[in-house]
Amino acid sequence: MKLCFIGAGYVGLVSGICFAEFGNNVICVDRDKDKIDKLNKSVIPIYEQGLQELLNKNVKENRLKFTTDLKYGVENSDIVFIAVGTPSLPDGDVDLSAVKAVAEDIARYINGYKVIVNKSTVPVGTQKLVKELVKKNQIGAHDFDVVSNPEFLREGNAVYDTMNADRVIIGADSRKAADVMLELYKFVKCPVKVTTPESAEMIKYASNAFLATKITFINEIANICEKVGADVEEVAEGMGLDSRISDKFLRAGIGYGGSCFPKDTKAIVKIAEKAGYSFETVKSIINTNERQKLKPVEKLQEVLGEIKGRIIAVLGLAFKPNTDDIREAPSIDIITRILEMGGIVKAFDPVAISNAEKVLNGVEYGSDIYETVKDADAIILVTEWDEFKEIDLQKVRHLVKRPIFIDGRNVFEADEMINLGFEYYCIGRKDSTSIDELSSSLLNC
Ligand SMILES: NC(=O)c1ccc[n+]([C@@H]2O[C@H](COP(=O)([O-])OP(=O)(O)OC[C@H]3O[C@@H](n4cnc5c(N)ncnc54)[C@H](O)[C@@H]3O)[C@@H](O)[C@H]2O)c1
Repeated sequence: MKLCFIGAGYVGLVSGICFAEFGNNVICVDRDKDKIDKLNKSVIPIYEQGLQELLNKNVKENRLKFTTDLKYGVENSDIVFIAVGTPSLPDGDVDLSAVKAVAEDIARYINGYKVIVNKSTVPVGTQKLVKELVKKNQIGAHDFDVVSNPEFLREGNAVYDTMNADRVIIGADSRKAADVMLELYKFVKCPVKVTTPESAEMIKYASNAFLATKITFINEIANICEKVGADVEEVAEGMGLDSRISDKFLRAGIGYGGSCFPKDTKAIVKIAEKAGYSFETVKSIINTNERQKLKPVEKLQEVLGEIKGRIIAVLGLAFKPNTDDIREAPSIDIITRILEMGGIVKAFDPVAISNAEKVLNGVEYGSDIYETVKDADAIILVTEWDEFKEIDLQKVRHLVKRPIFIDGRNVFEADEMINLGFEYYCIGRKDSTSIDELSSSLLNC
């Protein structure tokens, strides 16, 4: 089939390349000329495992093109995907300006029946809105349909997720459009569900709000575990054995970030509010997550007292491993707070430093882990990259000025860290303090 993806970001680019791999002819359109120039030189502007090989292969086999020319993209496609950003406005509502602009542009170039697909995450009612905008701005009188087809890929696993989707949701109000989409997705092995456009739009927000709730729930359980002497990993494992709960998304840590959960939780609160409903659960999730992100700084203050003038090494900037995306990453809140308190921040991330440099001032970036931790008064591990799990801890122990290690992702074992001479703090598990307490209480027995 002939496809056009408008917006060559994490979603549009990965989906476009993967659909080319499935044998479709794909045109990826973006207004960012620099991005398109890079793509035309086979340089991928984002970090996503496995994407480079697929791009090279599909460009070579002539199934994949990149352009800034939206007219060319629309005129030469049967299905046009809108995959532009939908960031939060200051009040939490969704900024639909890019979606609206693209809908108006598509309208001008329709030259035959098209299925226009909202792949961007958009509030309930946006399928209708896009339909109205296209109708209003259309120059000819060609037939078209608008479908909602939300995206569920995870950054860092985006290629795998697109190739091995859990489910495909098609929100359509016309049989013809639903059939076109079913034909497009006929290769998938997962359930394909056709719903109303409104339900499809809601499925995306409800899924992300639910996942954010699950993460925040286990983070709060971790906070309570610290106070009552339980271990959140044992608790999570025990809970996860219940098939109604499942063991997924039960890893305690310093909160969620990224380009989706923060904005989508705010958006669903706003969607509810506009419909006259106050979504108390998700409001509370948002506030709790904001607090959780700053837990390492709290710990730091407890242990160091004064942060002013202290060197804090931050390991990990991306909001999660295997991506260079730092949108709403906990690292930003943590570093900003430490800098406000007069601390000196040295940071390292395997791939996200150039993105961090665009939004964080006053941070020194190390060229590797060891250079970053040298002479540090404390280390905070923020992102659980595999390469951090494999660090030479003995070497780190000798490089730091003071061996305080705050493990925001529960990557290391407390016993091992303490044996190496670290003052080790983690989230909801036994750390140096609790082990000290435990050994003294055992001694007292
Ligand atoms: N990133 C994710 O993990 C993820 C997962 C599921 C859904 N989503 C949703 O998918 C959508 C896109 O997210 P993303 O992370 O890919 O965004 P992104 O910011 O990485 O990419 C958006 C792209 O759209 C381009 N663009 C904006 N306006 C344009 C226009 N008028 N014409 C052409 N191009 C234009 C931008 O230049 C940019 O390259 C959002 O609604 C997001 O919520 C994202």
